[in-house]
Amino acid sequence: MTGVPTVILSVSGWQVLYPWLTSMPDPENPIGCGHCMVAFPQGVTNAHGLSGVNPRFFSLYNGTDISSTTTVTPGYKLDFPGTAGNCATCHVPGAAANRPFTADMNDLTGVETEGVLCDFCQSVRRVPEPCHVPTDFPGRHTILAVTATDEQRQTLVQLSGPTVPDWGGTQAGLPGKAFAKVLRDVETGESLVVSYWKQALIVSDNRIARPKATSTS
Ligand code: HEC
Repeated sequence: MTGVPTVILSVSGWQVLYPWLTSMPDPENPIGCGHCMVAFPQGVTNAHGLSGVNPRFFSLYNGTDISSTTTVTPGYKLDFPGTAGNCATCHVPGAAANRPFTADMNDLTGVETEGVLCDFCQSVRRVPEPCHVPTDFPGRHTILAVTATDEQRQTLVQLSGPTVPDWGGTQAGLPGKAFAKVLRDVETGESLVVSYWKQALIVSDNRIARPKATSTS
């Protein structure tokens, strides 16, 4: 298993060098999760399996367009050049476990590029928790736009009530509502920023709260 990213685990006072298992069905490695795991086909193609290669992630990390050629703000690396940031902690936890806060997302190797490894959560054994809708990532929002029609399918005009805010793109001004956590950059005063690695204040947060945890015991 040379060259495989590993993590040092403490087991009963012993330090164990634990190689992360690949999430792929690797013929060389009969204990890779992909051989048997029911969730494997979904896991490799969803956000967990792709988080180490997701072009949208690298666009915001490096401050480039999706094809990594032109500079596009904001970008973590533009604001803090020469640092790795804490992004790997969640996006590639296998890399962050052994290189906390120095795991550069542009230098991932081997199993690390598989993103949020099946093995990581299986080893940590944390039950996934439900989250707010949309999630904590400030680039996300959920828009509910309402169109009401009468029996003749004529669109009814809204007389009063909430409308989608200005930042709602093509749906701005339509009857409806937007759910988001809106941030303001402290230094520039600019609102609706996603660069949460800089000092930012929460202007508003009307996301749909996560369901309260229930106990079955
Ligand atoms: C505390 C954990 C955590 C940290 C730290 C973190 N992220 Fe995330 N990030 C997430 C989660 C979870 C999602 C998925 C949320 C969702 O799907 O709405 C996400 C989503 C994203 C997305 C959206 C990806 C897409 O395909 O739409 C981008 C871009 C992103 N993060 C960039 C970053 C950058 C850059 C950093 C470091 C500066 C970072 N994240 C640090 C947990 C984290």
